[in-house]
Amino acid sequence: MVSRTQETPRGGRPARPLSTPLALDDAHGRTATDLRVSLTDRCNLRCTYCMPAEGLPWLPGDEMLTDDELITLIGVGVRHLGIRTVRLTGGEPLLRKNLEQIVSAIAEFEPRPQIALTTNGIGLARRAEALAAAGLDRINISLDTIDRDTFKRLTRRDRLADVLAGVRAARAAGLDPVKINSVLMRGINDHEAADLVRWATEEGVQLRFIEQMPLDAQHGWDRGEMITAAEIGERLAELGPLEALDGRGSAPAERFRLGDSGHRVGIIAAVTRPFCGACDRVRLTADGQIRNCLFARTESDLRAPLRAGADDQQLAELWAAAVASKLPGHGIDDPSFLQPDRPMSSIGG
Ligand code: 5AD
Ligand code: SF4
Repeated sequence: MVSRTQETPRGGRPARPLSTPLALDDAHGRTATDLRVSLTDRCNLRCTYCMPAEGLPWLPGDEMLTDDELITLIGVGVRHLGIRTVRLTGGEPLLRKNLEQIVSAIAEFEPRPQIALTTNGIGLARRAEALAAAGLDRINISLDTIDRDTFKRLTRRDRLADVLAGVRAARAAGLDPVKINSVLMRGINDHEAADLVRWATEEGVQLRFIEQMPLDAQHGWDRGEMITAAEIGERLAELGPLEALDGRGSAPAERFRLGDSGHRVGIIAAVTRPFCGACDRVRLTADGQIRNCLFARTESDLRAPLRAGADDQQLAELWAAAVASKLPGHGIDDPSFLQPDRPMSSIGG
């Protein structure tokens, strides 16, 4: 349980303002306001582009932030550092015990942040309503195929029906919009792009294709193998030409309509049209490390200072310094690019 008492209402700490106001500004004119929190590095799927069949060496329990520690750090971000959106991710965040309590603790912060979840949808059918009641505002469900065999091959588990039930439950619980993230892979599911779009339209959910990024634990990513945004357009040609709907602003997804077909789709061209210049994100890992970029090669530890008794001011200063040193871009196209040591499953999407 997330324990909170009358005297220390939020994150186990009284809500006093900092002696020096701080914001998460970097040296390139950006300000982080969107916090992604990985609640666990574990997952109940084994997507081939993410982890090996046997899983990964999971974070040891004593290195994981407790619920109270998590809430304390999220509270520092929201109350003192201008965080306005908190997205809970994994691994698979539904595997985190007390997720509903964590959501309701975040919903009590002032100012109340937007609360979002990125999940693979397994087990969501049973929990969507409780999560919405706890204060969850938005949800992204990862689904790369609606074909049972492809799903089995891609995730190494026969769980498509659970995910589809989760999508419906999310809609029924009033989570709006429900966004679906799909990664297309050559020779695996790239022939299903148009089917996914048709399905999303029928279900009333917003589909976004994401270019595959070099974040797999196996370090097997190959740029030539990646299905680019341009190729996604080609694969959707049967539904109509891609027509841009609006500027994407700081949102990574570019939105399109497909001619007059009535279909819409988002494309997140993270590799071929990077949006680093407008990035407003910062990440907290399940073991208490601040990452200023998905692709960062360094992290800033907040867990040790937190456990040593650092106060909000000290934690906020460490966090602000971690963001100040954010690099201008991910550099995936630079010859010197090195994939981060931490895989996507323990960074969070
Ligand atoms: N590139 C792009 N997206 C990825 N995801 C996982 N690994 C990658 C990758 N290498 C997606 C998942 C999920 C979200 C958390 O990130 O499919 O939608
Ligand atoms: Fe799990 Fe997401 Fe990785 Fe698939 S991509 S194995 S759902 S963490």
